[in-house]
Amino acid sequence: MKVHIIGGGNLGVSIALGLSKFSKNNQITVTRRNTSSIMHLEQSGIIVSTDNTLQIQEADLIILTVKPYQVDTVLTEILPKITNKTIASAVSGVDIAALQDKTNGAHTIIRIMPNIAAQFGESATCISFQDKDKSTAENVIALFQDLGTAPVIDEKLMDAATVLAASGTAFALRYIRASMQAGIEIGFDWKTALAISAQTVKGAAEMLMEEQVHPEQLIDRVTTPQGCTIAGLNDMEMHGFSSSLIRGIKTSLKQIKG
Ligand SMILES: NC(=O)c1ccc[n+]([C@@H]2O[C@H](COP(=O)([O-])OP(=O)(O)OC[C@H]3O[C@@H](n4cnc5c(N)ncnc54)[C@H](OP(=O)(O)O)[C@@H]3O)[C@@H](O)[C@H]2O)c1
Repeated sequence: MKVHIIGGGNLGVSIALGLSKFSKNNQITVTRRNTSSIMHLEQSGIIVSTDNTLQIQEADLIILTVKPYQVDTVLTEILPKITNKTIASAVSGVDIAALQDKTNGAHTIIRIMPNIAAQFGESATCISFQDKDKSTAENVIALFQDLGTAPVIDEKLMDAATVLAASGTAFALRYIRASMQAGIEIGFDWKTALAISAQTVKGAAEMLMEEQVHPEQLIDRVTTPQGCTIAGLNDMEMHGFSSSLIRGIKTSLKQIKG
């Protein structure tokens, strides 16, 4: 596939690097206005350019990874150069109907919500599309399955997916940081504490995904009656561990919806 990524920032670069490493037989182009910080992508065989229209008519897939307020400028630039393309938009808060409107209904619009773990083949990329575009969407789904998981969701859940899967990366990292800080208090240097905390989270996630069970079933295997784990867990819950996370996720969603 020829994949043309417009917006070589945090997400665009993660997708480009992920595709170059985990998805075979693609030709990837990444554009942004100032390319000095992303020239290193060329070492991975990725074409880097300031020209958003560079060979765009040959692209099989155009991926938009610019900020919402940058979409109109980009579309004004590329629309005169393209016909009947598939445009996958990772832009948060801009829905398929709005994008179809902006592109005069002349292209297939797919919404994608990846996260920056795409670079490591571990994104949870939620995907939405209209029923009529199912066969085109299959190719996009397959591409993002190379970069992790790619669940198809109802578009009305796209904002929720942004919070759970994209912002969720920051929430998970903050959990690891807190765990690491506690690790330092109880005796480890920060590097050892971080390595232990990160691997422990990875292990917990692997178990959940492998066994497909509710987390509480696995927690039950770790919590010995009268043991240290249940004592710590109950103390955390009394200080708002789960409720503060739930509140934060709902606050993020309110912020997107404006
Ligand atoms: N970061 C995430 O984890 C994440 C996850 C899911 C979705 N998203 C969504 O993805 C989008 C990008 O997020 P981000 O965090 O990657 O933002 P970012 O780091 O600011 O990247 C946006 C990039 O777009 C480039 N750009 C701006 N105007 C352009 C133009 N006219 N032509 C070409 N490139 C242009 C900017 O570079 P120049 O200024 O050099 O042009 C910048 O590198 C947002 O809509 C965000 O909501 C992000």
